[in-house]
Amino acid sequence: MINKWTSPRTITGDAATGTRYLRRQHINDYFWQEVEKGNHILFVAPRRVGKSSIMKDLAENPLEGYSCIYEDIESVSTKNGFYKRLFELIVKCLDRTNTKKAIALLGKWRKQFKITEITKSGVKFETKEIDYEAELRNIIPELAATDTHTVIFLDEFAEVINKLNKEGRPQDAINILHTLREIRSDADFRKFTLVYAGSIGLQFVIKTIDRPKLINDLHPVKTGALDEDEAAQLIRQLTQHATIQFSEAAIAYLLKKVHHLLPYYIQLMIEEIDRICRTASRPEVTNADIDAAFTGVLKTNKNFDDWLERLKDYQLVHFPFINSILKSCAHKSSITVQEIYNIAGDKKFKRQEDYMDFVEELMNDGYLVEEEEHVYRFISPFLQQFWLKKYPL
Ligand SMILES: Nc1ncnc2c1ncn2[C@@H]1O[C@H](COP(=O)(O)OP(=O)(O)O)[C@@H](O)[C@H]1O
Ligand SMILES: [Mg+2]
Repeated sequence: MINKWTSPRTITGDAATGTRYLRRQHINDYFWQEVEKGNHILFVAPRRVGKSSIMKDLAENPLEGYSCIYEDIESVSTKNGFYKRLFELIVKCLDRTNTKKAIALLGKWRKQFKITEITKSGVKFETKEIDYEAELRNIIPELAATDTHTVIFLDEFAEVINKLNKEGRPQDAINILHTLREIRSDADFRKFTLVYAGSIGLQFVIKTIDRPKLINDLHPVKTGALDEDEAAQLIRQLTQHATIQFSEAAIAYLLKKVHHLLPYYIQLMIEEIDRICRTASRPEVTNADIDAAFTGVLKTNKNFDDWLERLKDYQLVHFPFINSILKSCAHKSSITVQEIYNIAGDKKFKRQEDYMDFVEELMNDGYLVEEEEHVYRFISPFLQQFWLKKYPL
């Protein structure tokens, strides 16, 4: 028995920060380049792909002259609740900006809005009759006077819009999108950037409320899989002080096994490998451990359930058709365009006009890739196996 077993510094729940986080500098550089150009940013990728981790890192490490704040706004459930939250975030962000001009502006706002307290959890006001929507249009242009550029990161924004829409208040969703669009296009608001994120296809939600133009000015930033060097670096970083030891060959084998190198998958694998090796009291990771870990990770459905649930959530009507494609693809390891066409022609679906739109969307969303011309397969072996398990024939 090894006396003291030290586990790797993995994290598989919350956003990864500190030494658990692997920064991809090219994403940070690209992000700031687009912000400097005056673009507003949209992070859209499925859950657990790493959006929150990246946004937190960006917000904590801004370029000089920028002041950032990150917040998960998923709990917002009304239009006014949204404007209030945004108002408070701007106040909180200004409170962090320690320049003379920022302090002066905050002093003015404290008086004007009778702000009694600014803490991490919120902003308190003496009176409650503030028209937040109107005041946002007043306070945002005032930020320019601080010589600081304000960047507000709104995590789970797409979920809020989806919720309003689904709960029968599409007008509120449209109102928010409209106001934000106006703010973005107004020259007075140039020292102000909004960063939106969400795990469901915001484009799809917006399509259902028939207002695609309201977000087509947003600049998407991709947060896909790691390349092999980045993945190997993440493995070394997480296991640096750990008891388990990866040889170069073991790392190569793991990368091949996982194939689609999302940091989350790597974290799950390392956690499971650690458990296996610890039980065996053996620090060296073998290929058999990696194979066993792959199977072990798949045993826990919640690791992958999100990928299925999110389709049900925002593809409500089209879900049965989309899922037929995915099921067939899982069972045959790939699917041809002819097979998709046949499914589309089924009398249950009758989708002969637009069936390729869904295939496109599944590719954009990180489910399928085009393996060769007109042949598609799951991008991730984990996802393929998950679908197989979920829908055995
Ligand atoms: N850059 C990264 N470095 C290390 N682990 C990461 C990174 N990005 C994502 N992860 C892993 O993925 C999980 C989900 O990340 P998160 O940022 O919460 O994704 P999202 O916001 O897209 O749902 C984390 O718990 C962690 O295991
Ligand atoms: Mg997140």
